[in-house]
Amino acid sequence: MSASDFQRLPGFRDFPPDELAFRNRIFESWRRVALRYGFSEYDGPPLEALELYVEKSGEEIVGQLYNFTDKGGREVVLRPEMTPSLARILGGMSRGMSKPIRWFSMPQLFRYERQQRGRLREHFQWNVDIVGEAGVAADAEVLAVGIDGLRDLGLTHEDFYARVSDRRLLTTVLGAAGVAEESMPAAFTVVDKVERETEDRTLARLRDEVGLSEPDARSLVEILGEGLEGIASRFGSRDDVGAEVTRLKDYLANLDAMGLGDFIAVDLRIVRGLAYYTGIVFELFDRQGALRAICGGGRYDRLLELVGGEPLPAVGFGMGDVVLGELLKDRDLTPDTTRRIDYFVVPVTPDQRGEALGIAQKLRARGHSVAYALREQGVGKQLKAAAKEGAVEALLVGPDELARGVVTSRKMSDGSERDLLLQELA
Ligand code: HAM
Repeated sequence: MSASDFQRLPGFRDFPPDELAFRNRIFESWRRVALRYGFSEYDGPPLEALELYVEKSGEEIVGQLYNFTDKGGREVVLRPEMTPSLARILGGMSRGMSKPIRWFSMPQLFRYERQQRGRLREHFQWNVDIVGEAGVAADAEVLAVGIDGLRDLGLTHEDFYARVSDRRLLTTVLGAAGVAEESMPAAFTVVDKVERETEDRTLARLRDEVGLSEPDARSLVEILGEGLEGIASRFGSRDDVGAEVTRLKDYLANLDAMGLGDFIAVDLRIVRGLAYYTGIVFELFDRQGALRAICGGGRYDRLLELVGGEPLPAVGFGMGDVVLGELLKDRDLTPDTTRRIDYFVVPVTPDQRGEALGIAQKLRARGHSVAYALREQGVGKQLKAAAKEGAVEALLVGPDELARGVVTSRKMSDGSERDLLLQELA
């Protein structure tokens, strides 16, 4: 057996230091921004019971589960998303808690997907959720967190934007366009796929699966491409559509007031594949449309009750590290991941080794990063090693210097030297 016989599983990543530093940089922004908005961090187990997902997450995710029977005969799953875990955790503890609950998490998730650009079999996903508030201010707040998470990483409204919709608005618009109550689920499925299928295919599905006439199907395709104003002028006089338009306008006004209007586009074609969403839904995309969604989320007012908890309204999103990482790399926004060594300590002869180790420890105790050669070497070799390690200064610990109560600091960039008092190092 050689090392090359052991291959990484497809769709999984290794994180050598540069990659891990990049991931950590993303995590730093995610955490910093969530804390800035008053959220608390939580986590749960990576393995959950299969039934937590069946019927609640929807077919798409259930078809991608990493599931198996454990040694105790339980049907278990590597978590494919965090929202059901959040609902389960809060189900057991939300009753005594003051609302709204603002929680965030950064779990690693597992989905057995076909591997392609932006899609792996594991990813890390920033989850930000507000539980216990039904009003649109909560919807606006979570979207603002997501937008700020990306801004904190250096992206601007020229790089990305949010496409938002509301499943309640879509329902009333579909009804106004002639879709019968019992055909709503089928109509949602067609709308969800509208961008991935040809217009002919969509029209055929609207006729065959949703039961629309040819002219109704054509007019619906047109309506789906309209913004909020178009929908308002077409159907605004209907009470049901009008009420939903007003609600979405109220939501947009919140985002405008936060100065985020530039990031938002209303788009009824955003449905979201997951089964549990009940209201406003959104996805963040790169402006060029080159990548898959960076982030997706929305309101899910019935999930907590569905998993047996207190009936609480909820809204949140998940932002993955994979598509985001690609966008950051495309925009040259990768962080500087070079390791920094402040001091490389150089015993001039083996006799000063003990003194050198003591100095290194004192400097480390003061928070500096310090390295030295791990075997006895001449000064020249040690200085070469210091340069290779990217040290800012080399500290030469020699017999004459020690006798004078100093060490010699050599700046690696220009070779200039100065004496440092041993007392000061301590
Ligand atoms: P989702 O749309 O399934 O939503 O995933 C959210 C984001 O996670 C996607 O936009 C994408 O960036 C990333 N993602 C998903 N699957 C993969 C994959 N296989 N490889 C790489 N990245 C991926 C949810 O999971 C919801 N639970 C989010 C949510 C939280 N809704 C409310 N609260």
